[in-house]
Amino acid sequence: MDMPSCEFKPEPYEGITFEHAKEVRKTNLNPALFTYYKNPVFITKGHMQWLWDNNDKRYLDLFAGIVTVSVGHCHPHVTNAAKKQMDSLWHTTNIYYHPTVHEYAELLASKLPGNLKVCYFVNSGSEANDMAIMMARAHTGNFDFLSLRNAYHGASPGTLGILAHNTWKLNVPLSFGFFQTMNADVYQGPWGGAKCRDSIAQADRTCDCQCMASKLYVDQLKDVLVHSTSKKVAGFIAEVIQGVGGAVHLPKGFLKGAYELIRERGGVCISDEVQTGFGRLGSHYWGFETQDVVPDIVTMAKGIGNGFPLAAVVTTPEIAQSFAQAVHFNTYGGNPIASAVGKAVLEAIDEDGTQKNSEVVGTYFIEKLLALKSEFPDVVGDVRGKGLMIGVELVTDKESKTPLPPEKFVPIWEDCKDMGVLIGKGGLYGNVLRIKPPMCINKDDVDFGIAVLRTALSRYTQSK
Ligand SMILES: Cc1ncc(COP(=O)(O)O)c(C=O)c1O
Repeated sequence: MDMPSCEFKPEPYEGITFEHAKEVRKTNLNPALFTYYKNPVFITKGHMQWLWDNNDKRYLDLFAGIVTVSVGHCHPHVTNAAKKQMDSLWHTTNIYYHPTVHEYAELLASKLPGNLKVCYFVNSGSEANDMAIMMARAHTGNFDFLSLRNAYHGASPGTLGILAHNTWKLNVPLSFGFFQTMNADVYQGPWGGAKCRDSIAQADRTCDCQCMASKLYVDQLKDVLVHSTSKKVAGFIAEVIQGVGGAVHLPKGFLKGAYELIRERGGVCISDEVQTGFGRLGSHYWGFETQDVVPDIVTMAKGIGNGFPLAAVVTTPEIAQSFAQAVHFNTYGGNPIASAVGKAVLEAIDEDGTQKNSEVVGTYFIEKLLALKSEFPDVVGDVRGKGLMIGVELVTDKESKTPLPPEKFVPIWEDCKDMGVLIGKGGLYGNVLRIKPPMCINKDDVDFGIAVLRTALSRYTQSK
């Protein structure tokens, strides 16, 4: 099982020691930070789909710094754009004109359908979603706001109301007016069949609802609207494939039904494209396009900057007008370096054929994972996702679908790391392998990743 070769050879690492970093982390950094792995990886260098640690060991990165490195670590086009901008102008602020933000806003808006034309640049996904909630309330004059259980949209005081995982819920008073509806999870939820998802990866369930699952989940939203909210609502937010939630893929037609209910009550619809945007799903540039809907507000972060702190909200001129009741300003929004990076990322996606690569390599990856599911039916419960936004849910057995507990899940995942493959984990119970690599990976990388995962799963089944 040889790791695919890599022509790039980094200089040997000579920075602070791992022990020193460990001490600083203990003393000077946020104690609520969690670190992946018993022996944390100390990453010192990245190039495209590859990472190196302080011992110059190379890893295949199948998690992209939490679905953030979109076109590749230190992608040359993006790096050069940042360097060029740094040599000319780092910062003014929005009170002056500078060229880059205008070039960038025009290009970003050209990637969106319909009337989604007005861009706001911010620094993180949480800030983008906070802004979207505020916009929805300012535009509609309504207050109640809905999201899905199992959603993660950020951890700011505003977004803590729309996230629905108690892992991140602090026991402090949060803003009111937030409601969550049943997640449309066609594998673990009450309804689902073998045709629900817009993907080759379907839940291993027999269909007995004549393709009604999506409607039944929409009915749950109606139930919340009828019982819990006032007759008017401000908005609804969802991801087509939940990122942190473990790649739960909404069934076809769900967003159409949900958007209809929200709009009937005066609300606006928000698509969180922080993880699903920029071609990651392969067939489309944006996740919402896979459900044939056009939202009123789109939020973006992570992949938008390939790792640079950049995020955005894009909306219609009408909503932007409502939001202009007061001055809205943030110091770094549209910063020249961030804008240069964002623009270069969009160019790289086009020039490298990144979306197509996500479709071709992602489909190949899912096919191989489905074969692993057949090989290990009692541990690989569900393979789901689309393009390079993939989840593999591990369970104790096929029938009960009980989430594989951490003491069994973690050794499999650690084993992959020790063999040179970094994979994410997620889902409420932390039992979903999240495979969302830089979108420049190729089929050889997939073959290697699959061989490693097969070995780890074989060792687990042999040890049972
Ligand atoms: C779907 C989604 N929305 C929003 C956020 C929040 O982004 P940030 O961590 O940049 O605040 C995240 C972060 O993981 C996310 O996955």
